[in-house]
Amino acid sequence: MQIHILTLFPELMEAPFRHSMMKRAIEKGHLHLYIHNIRNWSTNKHNQVDDTQYGGGAGMVMMPEPIARCLDELQAETPFDEIIFVTPDGELLDQPTANRLSGTQNIAILCGHYKGVDQRIREKYITKEVSIGNYVLTGGELAAAVIADAVVRLIPGVLGDETSALEDSFQDGLLSPPVYTRPADFRGIPVPEVLQSGHTANIATWRHEQALIRTRERRPELYEKFMQGE
Ligand code: ADE
Repeated sequence: MQIHILTLFPELMEAPFRHSMMKRAIEKGHLHLYIHNIRNWSTNKHNQVDDTQYGGGAGMVMMPEPIARCLDELQAETPFDEIIFVTPDGELLDQPTANRLSGTQNIAILCGHYKGVDQRIREKYITKEVSIGNYVLTGGELAAAVIADAVVRLIPGVLGDETSALEDSFQDGLLSPPVYTRPADFRGIPVPEVLQSGHTANIATWRHEQALIRTRERRPELYEKFMQGE
């Protein structure tokens, strides 16, 4: 899968892909990641990429031309399945969206900054607007990294254990049950006996019950939805 990230701050995008699973996804060839500095597509002799707002008001707006030139050039090579703009007024990212995106071949993620991006880019190029939560970040880079991480770990072969992505919180509509490792007794707190029993069916039942309890307590709206589907 190819992911192209368009940003004014390419250095911000480096660390998340240099470690752990994302690094391995790149090394194994599952992810081809391209970070593009929008400034390189500026037509202005000062490499300007933002300008004041029409109508007045504080804050600069990202100019349409450099972004359009960058996207046109990239699309001429391989058309994008989705061109995503990360923005707090987008659709909230959830697991079904990550699942769907992990099945695509080539996506672009545009990171906004300052006051935002000229509306004409959003209308002419953007196919999907995504928010990672109901709060405002200083720019789209961290949101783009979150989306890429959520998507790339779902590409078959990226996670060592093929089943582990299927057992994630949200994949079946429930939160994950608690997990334990050694020692069996940590400062007087024991690991639940059933997990030490080796009885696979009992363990599966316990985990399902715990997932139900956790979801009901922490995310009642997910619990209701799950119970309606049962
Ligand atoms: N840019 C700024 N805040 C954001 C958010 N919550 N989600 C996605 N992109 C953003």
